[in-house]
Amino acid sequence: MADSRTPLISGNWKMHHNHFEAIQCVQKLGYLLKDLLREEPPSVVVSVHPPFTDIRSVQTTIESDRIALALGAQNCHPDEKGAFTGEVSATMLAKLNVDYVIVGHSERRELFGETDEFVNAKVHAVLKAEMTPILCVGETLAEREEGRTGDKVAGQVRAGLKGLKAEQVGELVIAYEPIWAIGTGKTATTEDAQSVCGEHVRAVVAAEFGDEAAATVRVQYGGSVKPGNIAELMAQPDIDGALVGGASLDPDDFAAIARYQEQ
Ligand code: PGA
Repeated sequence: MADSRTPLISGNWKMHHNHFEAIQCVQKLGYLLKDLLREEPPSVVVSVHPPFTDIRSVQTTIESDRIALALGAQNCHPDEKGAFTGEVSATMLAKLNVDYVIVGHSERRELFGETDEFVNAKVHAVLKAEMTPILCVGETLAEREEGRTGDKVAGQVRAGLKGLKAEQVGELVIAYEPIWAIGTGKTATTEDAQSVCGEHVRAVVAAEFGDEAAATVRVQYGGSVKPGNIAELMAQPDIDGALVGGASLDPDDFAAIARYQEQ
């Protein structure tokens, strides 16, 4: 069994790869990461988050080929069922053996108008369906320049975790993703990433839910993570993993990121 701070490297494919491409991608990852994914206990957990239309294909591929990748999703609806055209519930994802669900990604918040309350309802739904939420938080460039990074991130952490028990918080994942670093090639400096993950994510969890939850909650950094910057980020005491967008689409790059410990 992985302990709760086992590093988690997650590939957020966004709206890329149809189900044929998805199968090829996970088969190649399975080949490239064979030895790493079989370590017992694992030194790292690697999750892939394909579009909804790929999830069943990826599930059957990783189960039949015994590829020890964790299966993830990019979003879900907070209700179990109902008249919500175009939506997918957490319970439907759980049926496909999904382990991790990204919740409140900045693209969902900015492009699809998701509020803190809606994101919080999704966190509850994912936990109720016995999966692990990856709650995304992060500031815009304007907020950073105005010195509001801490307030924004801490506020999103508090709102996203509202109503949870300390034990639940201790088992979930929070991804700090500065919005200005997503898909731009700009990464936060390692010092900035560490200081936000420590002071505005983990310390907020400690203040709201206690030291035990803060000691076990996993905090990921996301935003232009690449094979060349992952090792330095992962060396930070409050960074327990990475949420990787663009570089997760190429199996060679994503495998190199997952193998950061060998650098
Ligand atoms: P990026 O995306 O790695 O392409 O910057 C990260 C994310 O949006 O999760």
